[in-house]
Amino acid sequence: MDKPRDILIAPSILAADFGRLADEVAKVEAAGADMLHVDVMDGHFVPNISIGVPVVNSLARCTELTLDTHLMIEDPAKYAAAFVEAGAGIITFHIEAARQPHDLIQRIRDLGAKVGVSLNPDTPAEAILEIIGDVDLVLVMTVFPGFGGQSFMHECLPKIEVIAEHLTAEQWLEVDGGIGPLTAAEAVSAGANVLVAGTSIFGAANAAEAVVGMRRVARRAARDRAQRMEASS
Ligand code: DX5
Ligand code: ZN
Repeated sequence: MDKPRDILIAPSILAADFGRLADEVAKVEAAGADMLHVDVMDGHFVPNISIGVPVVNSLARCTELTLDTHLMIEDPAKYAAAFVEAGAGIITFHIEAARQPHDLIQRIRDLGAKVGVSLNPDTPAEAILEIIGDVDLVLVMTVFPGFGGQSFMHECLPKIEVIAEHLTAEQWLEVDGGIGPLTAAEAVSAGANVLVAGTSIFGAANAAEAVVGMRRVARRAARDRAQRMEASS
């Protein structure tokens, strides 16, 4: 059987209590989260403002987890270096905002961070195919970015399948928006392996159980997918 892909869980701090951020991070770190997803919004690329460089700096000092930094901003090239210096281990920019994606990818790599590219729900897979071989991860938005707590858009599943076909085993396929146990399984069945989840983890009565439960259903879906792929090859 093909090896099922490793599942990574990245709680999104957008849904955490910002007044107790260090405790909230410690809670998901203890629960076995693999990374911390950090949503940066500028009020231009998306109609909301969240956090910036100083918060990333503080987070880097209170956790060992990789800071998976999702830049929902209009000018990612201008701010990438500041976020890496602050401690971001992964910089993901939006293809819709990147004027020169090739240069930006190289710039982020030269800074020493991993690089991801993200697509909005209404951006087709074709928009990233030219650069897909150059990134460490593709982040498929399964809601329109800007706000936590929205419902997963099932119409994004075919795009996840298309992108999965273009990725190597070393590249990650991340999904973000409306991810809970059920939608995590659907996204993994389509080919995703990194699950961003805000509300379903920080909003849960027991965040640790939420992380463990999501990993369990996602691993099962990854095994089933690997079996299906094997059977059809
Ligand atoms: C949305 C952000 C997401 C958000 C997900 O613009 O990119 O990372 O935190 O939140 P939930 O999991 O609540 O949909
Ligand atoms: Zn995000």
